[in-house]
Amino acid sequence: MRIVIPGGTGQVGTLLNRAFTAAGHDVVTLTRQPVRAGEVHWDGERLGPWAEVVDGSDVVVNLAGRSVSCRYTEANLRAMLDSRVRSTEAVGQAIAAAARPPRVWLQMSTATLYAHTFDAPHDETTGRVGGTEPDAPSSWAFSVRIAQEWERAQLRADTPHTRKVALRSAMVMSPDRGGVFDVLSWLARLGLGGPVAGGGQYVSWMHDHDFVRAVDFLIARDDLDGPINLAAPEPLPQRAFMRELRAAWGVPLGLPATRWMAGLGALALRTDTELLLKSRRVVPGRLQGAGFTFTHPRWAEAGTDLVLRYRTRSA
Ligand SMILES: NC(=O)c1ccc[n+]([C@@H]2O[C@H](COP(=O)([O-])OP(=O)(O)OC[C@H]3O[C@@H](n4cnc5c(N)ncnc54)[C@H](OP(=O)(O)O)[C@@H]3O)[C@@H](O)[C@H]2O)c1
Repeated sequence: MRIVIPGGTGQVGTLLNRAFTAAGHDVVTLTRQPVRAGEVHWDGERLGPWAEVVDGSDVVVNLAGRSVSCRYTEANLRAMLDSRVRSTEAVGQAIAAAARPPRVWLQMSTATLYAHTFDAPHDETTGRVGGTEPDAPSSWAFSVRIAQEWERAQLRADTPHTRKVALRSAMVMSPDRGGVFDVLSWLARLGLGGPVAGGGQYVSWMHDHDFVRAVDFLIARDDLDGPINLAAPEPLPQRAFMRELRAAWGVPLGLPATRWMAGLGALALRTDTELLLKSRRVVPGRLQGAGFTFTHPRWAEAGTDLVLRYRTRSA
């Protein structure tokens, strides 16, 4: 297959590209700064000559968007929203203009769409969309709005010959440097991987191999469209999540952090406390309902596997 990945130069794009290429597919990445073979220039905002690579392709997986790992200032939130909506609109226009449109368009979305809750897991049918939680800061509501407008941009696209899927993905855990697993592992190894603000908030996650398998599954299954949660079936409270990660690294202790300390830490890491404090309890209802099985359903085992791969790569 020819698979086009707009915004495919980041963490998720790199691991998808690696897996697709290993499986013998022809991968084209759309990037604002092409440097490698297989990369084609686009501006992420409007139609251009890049649309030619979409015409005749089999699959488009759009991942583009300003990184969410930043301070949630007004300007950054606006850039996070605009970059996602505009790039999705541009991809939709390219598919609409194609003489031979792709069979399927997988559009990245996010599990952040769901409400900050502790009591019940969110699947696609019964899950509650966030934005009005009384105990959540307003920037969290803006993140939900980003997710909603991102999905709407795909829905609006007039692409009748292309199946559309929105990937409501949890954090993808891979041993690659610079990804979220790397950052959390660094904290754990420094002895800082304890509960944050009590640690009751849920962490939804997905092992990179299952993420790739789920994407393959969604490409193959012509009967599946619309929003699909990509998350392991057993999200767990942050304190248990970090305990298992520490165990995988062989670090006995993790200093607890208050909400206030988490704020300072996030400031130092140039990121936002939402990523640490929001309770994400998201489950893969539709994926499992469609018969997808996870090779790494539980965090203790998945974390151990990731640490092993991390260590092997550093060796
Ligand atoms: N990583 C996760 O666990 C996770 C979980 C859920 C959802 N997501 C979402 O999935 C997508 C991919 O994740 P990722 O971790 O691979 O993200 P990433 O590393 O930040 O990569 C996203 C890519 O988007 C492009 N981009 C950045 N700013 C842009 C802009 N203003 N206009 C157009 N393109 C822009 C960049 O490509 P160029 O600079 O090469 O153009 C970048 O490589 C993101 O939208 C992210 O929010 C990720």
